[in-house]
Amino acid sequence: MTLLALETSCDETSAAVVRDGRVLSSVVSSQVRLHAEYGGVVPELAAREHLKNLLPVARAALGEAGVEPGQLDAVAATQGPGLPTALLVGFKAAQAVAFALRKPFLGIHHHEAHLYSPWIARGGGALAANFSDFQPNISLIVSGGHTLLVLVESELKHRVLGSTVDDAAGECFDKTGKLMGLAYPAGPEIDRLAEQGNPKAFDFPRPLLHDAGDDFSFSGLKTSVRYFLRDNPKLLDDAQRIRDLCASIQAAIVEVLVKKTIRAAKRNHMRCVTASGGVTCNRALRRDLESACKREGFTLRLAEESLCTDNAAMIGILAERKLAQNIPATGLDEEINPGWVLA
Ligand code: KG4
Ligand code: ZN
Repeated sequence: MTLLALETSCDETSAAVVRDGRVLSSVVSSQVRLHAEYGGVVPELAAREHLKNLLPVARAALGEAGVEPGQLDAVAATQGPGLPTALLVGFKAAQAVAFALRKPFLGIHHHEAHLYSPWIARGGGALAANFSDFQPNISLIVSGGHTLLVLVESELKHRVLGSTVDDAAGECFDKTGKLMGLAYPAGPEIDRLAEQGNPKAFDFPRPLLHDAGDDFSFSGLKTSVRYFLRDNPKLLDDAQRIRDLCASIQAAIVEVLVKKTIRAAKRNHMRCVTASGGVTCNRALRRDLESACKREGFTLRLAEESLCTDNAAMIGILAERKLAQNIPATGLDEEINPGWVLA
């Protein structure tokens, strides 16, 4: 099966062509620089950028894959959750392509695609799904909009155990970075600065770390950084103290994510942990998940870095998998679902 997938749920315009579990092409046009000026994603601007970029991005994906539109067997797009006006662009375009080609269309849940993205691996240079290695697992999805712990019992069968009650982990990186004067999104910059900082320099709260449940909360940590900076305004004049602050904030976020993930795995008798979403690019998180899983004798599968942030390849791989398992196609009169909650 050859399938074209589109992803426009937030601030990346992406198109990918997948064929029989292999990613033939994956093109991502990021709007990060456009939104940086405003300190966050501006929905109206995001939608306009998607409108401007979607066709060139889709054309590039088809060209790179060497696939003509007439060779497509199916089309997929993100149906939700996400910014309504942004989602509409990719979703409606994909429905229109499916209509014109008279091929099946599938609307995909963005987080479900993240959930299975760790099973897409690079083999011989190309990205391909590797579901033959699949093991039941505890999956951590950490992005700018969401923080979820999910029990994945078998392929396409999963149950959400916990999520954030306020800010997402990525949001905590971005908002605390903003307090320090770092550009949006601050996550990658905090990661970079933290490499040369002391994670024990400042002691920030680890919200809900000792709570028995699987939910997360990060807004208290953000508030404590705000008060800390109010009480120590001179700190931002010292480059090394900024690095220490970044390392300390990162250590608090990462400790909560890692410990709660491992605890959920143990409680649910899972011996495999997976992680995906933009924050999974964070080097301390990757490192600490690796050492914690090693200590416990768990298998760890981290999404490939190029698949951690939003991309259409993960949408395409999941859509193809679903169509192959005879999951019914989505109607061409169906609408986007911006608040779609992963069950
Ligand atoms: O998955 P994603 O591209 O978009 C959403 O669906 O939200 O994730 C973007 C988030 C941003 O909050 C960004 O700061 C964070 O992922 N992020 C990082 C790193 N790279 C991206 N956070 C910490 N360390 C990183 N290296
Ligand atoms: Zn995402």
